[in-house]
Amino acid sequence: MAGNISLFQGPKDSNTKVMANNSEPSKLHERNIHTEFHRMLGRADKENLLGQPGHVLWLYGLSGSGKSALANALERDLHQLGFKTQILDGDNIRSGLNSDLGFSDADRLENIRRIAEVAKLFAHAGIITITAFITPKKELRELARRTVGDQDFTEVYVKCSFETCEQRDVKGLYAKAKSGGVKQFTGKDSAFEPGDDTADLVIDTETQSLEASKASLKNALGAKLNLKFSE
Ligand code: ADX
Repeated sequence: MAGNISLFQGPKDSNTKVMANNSEPSKLHERNIHTEFHRMLGRADKENLLGQPGHVLWLYGLSGSGKSALANALERDLHQLGFKTQILDGDNIRSGLNSDLGFSDADRLENIRRIAEVAKLFAHAGIITITAFITPKKELRELARRTVGDQDFTEVYVKCSFETCEQRDVKGLYAKAKSGGVKQFTGKDSAFEPGDDTADLVIDTETQSLEASKASLKNALGAKLNLKFSE
């Protein structure tokens, strides 16, 4: 909800709250911003050229839950089948576009706000966009859905307990966090709200293999976009 955004203080070096309110058309003119959306080539022209609909698959879950593995496996399959895709991944984006952001609630909000805007641009260019971000709170998932638009957005909760992610500890961050080397670590000193009740699809990577998880994701995407993903 827009109201929830104001719960945050705003990131250290930017003003998210102001940016969110200032995107209303009347406010834009006050700021001498005159958008060009109406003149631009339409989304349908781009989708027709590519022969596919744009979409955003929003994968979220704890660090180490399997989001990136799943995103990469799915992308390779879709690519093989001739679909145009783009992955937006937490660690990658935080090394470039969002390298100014940390892990406070306000920075995580700004992280997700920017990613949702970028994902929307890709979807409107006809690209099947797969995102992999922890997106720890419901209000962040709601912000992403609202930004992208409900019909272009599939919310996928990549479910895995903190304990199992800690055992996997692919990046060594759980051990580092335990010894105090990572502040505001998700699931430890920064909250993660499970998504079982809001997600369009829950993928339990604790009980399911990567192959099986990928198959459920592919089925869900195929059903949503009315596409047949046969080899
Ligand atoms: S989010 O909460 O803002 O959605 P995002 O997905 O972009 O997070 O980044 C998470 C990645 O950053 C993790 O996979 C991990 O590799 C790294 N990371 C570094 N510090 C932290 C931290 N304090 N909490 C969680 N992840 C962290």
